[in-house]
Amino acid sequence: MLGNFSYCNPTKLYFGEDSLKFLNTELPKYGDNMVLIYGGGSIKKNGIYDEVVAILNQNKKKVAEISGVMPNPTVDKLYEGVKIARDHHADLLLAVGGGSVCDYAKAVSVSVNCEEDPWEKYYVRFEEPSCETLPVGCVLTMVGTGSEMNAGAVITNPKTKQKIGHVFADEKIMPKFAVLNPKYTLTLPHYQMVSGIYDIFNHICEQYFSGEDDNTSDYISEGLMRSVIYASRIANKNPLDYEARSNIMRAATWALNTLVSRGKSTDWMVHMLGQSVGAYTNATHGMTLAAVSLPYYRHILPYGVQKFKRFAVNVWNVDPAGKTDEQTAQEGLAAMENWMRELGLVMNISELGATEDMIEGIADGTLIMSGGYKVLNHDEIVEILKESMA
Ligand code: NZQ
Ligand code: ZN
Repeated sequence: MLGNFSYCNPTKLYFGEDSLKFLNTELPKYGDNMVLIYGGGSIKKNGIYDEVVAILNQNKKKVAEISGVMPNPTVDKLYEGVKIARDHHADLLLAVGGGSVCDYAKAVSVSVNCEEDPWEKYYVRFEEPSCETLPVGCVLTMVGTGSEMNAGAVITNPKTKQKIGHVFADEKIMPKFAVLNPKYTLTLPHYQMVSGIYDIFNHICEQYFSGEDDNTSDYISEGLMRSVIYASRIANKNPLDYEARSNIMRAATWALNTLVSRGKSTDWMVHMLGQSVGAYTNATHGMTLAAVSLPYYRHILPYGVQKFKRFAVNVWNVDPAGKTDEQTAQEGLAAMENWMRELGLVMNISELGATEDMIEGIADGTLIMSGGYKVLNHDEIVEILKESMA
């Protein structure tokens, strides 16, 4: 490894079938005023809402609610939540839901005491909070983003057609605690389950396809990828398999909790492309990544052949004997494509609602990162998006 780093992740995890009871350990650490944040109602249907509210009542919390946090939360919804949290003098924001709800809670946290427009401050100028932030806790119900143990918060501005993620530098923005009960994920529709699985896998790829040094992170990443592939095949056939779903949940958290990115450069171009597609289509996050991945990876493969070869051999068990490095590398991507099709992922952006006339706008909205094997130019982005149409 050639990079230097510091590392701190203060999120306390409670993992397993009985993990919700640990809310009783965490809640007394905060003041009485809680804001319970959730999405469009899945937690009311599957009973998680009632379980959480019972514990809040036992702990005599005064609860205000922010409900209806949509997938890909918008800036207008953020303004609404900031007002509720301010009016309630919130001491803790408790997010119960998926990445959208958890991200949203973090965005409210950094905005409650901020006098400036949070969109301008955090998502246009990428500043760090200069005000007091609120603690966030999380009960996770959808697996994929890693938001439960990181400082990322993605917000969409439908007016400007931008979907922007801010990964805050200060670890105090990470949730103070996260309750991870794999059973809570069993009610997810298949579409959301596989979308989340691809999100996990791609988070690892984004941190793997970069750098040329021998790096411990890459070995950790290969192990995580193998675990995700193995468990996903079981969960795809039998979504109620607890063991597989618990490994998927665990892998999701460790894929994006800052662990594997330490000491190396990272790519994130699939996410930049996918987020811009999402800004135009409001499509499900993991599916936007699946739809642009193969055209992107096939485009950059010639610039990182050795890593793609290593990916083929160590992750997909491709036998390199008698093949050129490039052939082995291409076989790895072919194996990944087969797996993606087996899961039933969306493999093109047209199916997500993107049309030819959006391509220029999506390309303009794609932030260009410089940590991967090739810094893309605008024409290359347009080319990749066109290839992602079919
Ligand atoms: O809103 P409800 O009714 O709760 O339904 C949700 C939502 O429709 C449903 N759902 C969640 N748990 C369920 C359930 N349905 C049945 N049973 C359950 N147990 O699933 C739908 C999707 O939920 P959402 O939270 O939107 O999904 P996800 O966890 O994929 O989060 C996506 C957001 O996270 C951002 C994405 O860009 C997107 O905005 N990301 C955040 C990251 C981070 N913080 O580091 C990184 C990621 O790359 C990603 O960008
Ligand atoms: Zn993602």
